[in-house]
Amino acid sequence: MAGVSTATVSRALANPEKVSEATRAKVAQAVRETGYSPNAAARSLRRSESKTIVVILPDIANPFFSDVISGLEEVAHSAGYKVLLGDSAHDPKRAQDYFDLVPTNQADGIILLTTEIPYTLVKDRQLKSGFPLVMACEYFDDLELPTIYVDNEKGASKAIDYLLDMGHTHIASISGPISNPICRDRHQGFLNCLRKKQLNFDEKYLRQGDFSFSAGYQQGRVLLQMKDRPTAFFCHNDEMAVGVIKAARDLDLKVPGDVSVVGFDNIKFGEYCEPELTTVHQPREDIGRQAMKMMLDILASNDVPIRQTLRTQLIVRGSAGAKPQTH
Ligand code: RIB
Repeated sequence: MAGVSTATVSRALANPEKVSEATRAKVAQAVRETGYSPNAAARSLRRSESKTIVVILPDIANPFFSDVISGLEEVAHSAGYKVLLGDSAHDPKRAQDYFDLVPTNQADGIILLTTEIPYTLVKDRQLKSGFPLVMACEYFDDLELPTIYVDNEKGASKAIDYLLDMGHTHIASISGPISNPICRDRHQGFLNCLRKKQLNFDEKYLRQGDFSFSAGYQQGRVLLQMKDRPTAFFCHNDEMAVGVIKAARDLDLKVPGDVSVVGFDNIKFGEYCEPELTTVHQPREDIGRQAMKMMLDILASNDVPIRQTLRTQLIVRGSAGAKPQTH
């Protein structure tokens, strides 16, 4: 009602000197209109901390998340907190169950690494003060949640500019679910680069996957069997890129001689596959560390930025090369 975030409301009530006169007035007005009064019992219950933070992730088998969790765990451990992992396995209902651990005092807060959870549930919790919630790796449109992630649009541009510089004009994209804001941003970065070179994107070269090896393999196979097959692939994560490399090998195509492949994430496996994977690096441990710091700051009632983005870096290895002469 006040048109400000829940963090600002808490600040206006607990430390009014830290907010502007205008914000104070808006919050006071909303407090009057709703008849809100701080619930002392709830506050003291909150103080009986569990010293446990729940981290909800979409796929425990994806090594991208192991590195994020290492960063989270490092900061949690040195602050005397434990991390409880909730693998939603892409099932929104499972993710939802973990949310109940906070009101029942089994956890002090939730760090969400996925948007595959009912938006209304997250919005409802975000509106409740006293529900510590941080988002990392991904983000929700229109939700003012403390969030840490990379600049996905710029990251994708780095990959596409690299492929364009090597002469590729027929570039396919195997995206993650396009309803996911980070995938939309990665695709936007892709389109921006083509537009700068006055190239059109042929929609038949866009296929969606679910960030798994098998999605990369299946979609890669379909694209590689087209009559005018693409000469390069941009995949929204490394697992799908590795799937495309296997699809190419199974079809007797050479990477990068016949087809170039670039991934996103820079999981360690990319250094050991054949050929080694060219990819966009995400500072995975840092994302984890920052997310846990944000959570601890929220619990200590310190100011927390609403959104923070980290930089990506193109890692050039062996899976992408010049456009083949024959194409
Ligand atoms: O590999 C999993 C993908 O989902 C990553 O690219 C990451 O950004 C994530 O949220």
